[in-house]
Amino acid sequence: MADYKGKVVTITGAASGLGKGMATRFAEKGARLSLADLDAENLARVEAELKAKGVEVLTTVLDVRDGEAVEKFAERTFAAFGGVDYCINNAGVHSMGTIWRIPAAEWRTVFEINVMGVVNGILAFVPRMIAQDRECFVVNTASNAGLQVNTGIAPYAMSKHAVVSITESLAVELQAVKSKVKAYAFCPGLVPTGLSRNSEQIKDQRDPYFQTESYKKIYAYGAMLLEKGMSMDLAMDRFFAGLEADDFYIRTHDNEEEEVSYRVRMVLERKRPAPITK
Ligand SMILES: NC(=O)c1ccc[n+]([C@@H]2O[C@H](COP(=O)([O-])OP(=O)(O)OC[C@H]3O[C@@H](n4cnc5c(N)ncnc54)[C@H](O)[C@@H]3O)[C@@H](O)[C@H]2O)c1
Repeated sequence: MADYKGKVVTITGAASGLGKGMATRFAEKGARLSLADLDAENLARVEAELKAKGVEVLTTVLDVRDGEAVEKFAERTFAAFGGVDYCINNAGVHSMGTIWRIPAAEWRTVFEINVMGVVNGILAFVPRMIAQDRECFVVNTASNAGLQVNTGIAPYAMSKHAVVSITESLAVELQAVKSKVKAYAFCPGLVPTGLSRNSEQIKDQRDPYFQTESYKKIYAYGAMLLEKGMSMDLAMDRFFAGLEADDFYIRTHDNEEEEVSYRVRMVLERKRPAPITK
């Protein structure tokens, strides 16, 4: 098993859900943490919980859309801890609806948070991590949605396919320059978190689209599916197992195999994907 004692871990979106789950597990394994989130209140709660257990933790309230703020987060983390071992670009929001009804503003918001948030993390942390010239790790949270054909979540699916693609490029380019930084695409399946609720709060809900019956229906359906997901404990077991096995695509669920191979088969056979019924 890898030794996480004293290792420095940065996580965005650490105030809730998978980010909090990773922070807690890394802390249990003896790591030191630099955590960031937009949600000051929940972040302070996580900080207090960890400090009560004697964990060394630094917190930063920021919006991952703000590149300068992410740059300052990196500066602050390196100044406080002298280096970073694991950089986890995890903050994200969900998005649902019928593709041609989703307002342009919603696409932009999801792109800015889910895609540019990860890019901002790469720009701020990776050059500093390369300069460390020692083995260290960048994990970008994508989703199984970034590996398969999706329905009813087009902006989210777009953003997660982008995160997978960005992380593939990162991995290839790091290897090409013989860097000791290793990249991973974390692609979880459904895990009950605050994702549905938090996404609603973060986004501008003034657009009448969010008040439509069709949106409310698909939102309730998405929230219900999330609740039925894999337990956080098991998801974290799978996350650390993937990391330690050096899986580039760190997956939590097994039932994706069918969906992933379906997409690849459609590409190779040049076929149009069929409607998804489940
Ligand atoms: N829960 C799932 O089933 C699931 C599955 C696949 C992928 N994911 C991905 O996992 C990541 C974490 O999501 P989660 O499910 O834990 O949801 P969550 O809402 O519980 O946690 C996400 C955290 O990110 C923060 N955040 C959102 N926008 C931000 C911004 N602009 N700047 C800074 N912080 C911001 C939120 O405040 C929240 O604390 C996301 O990227 C999500 O897309 C989740």
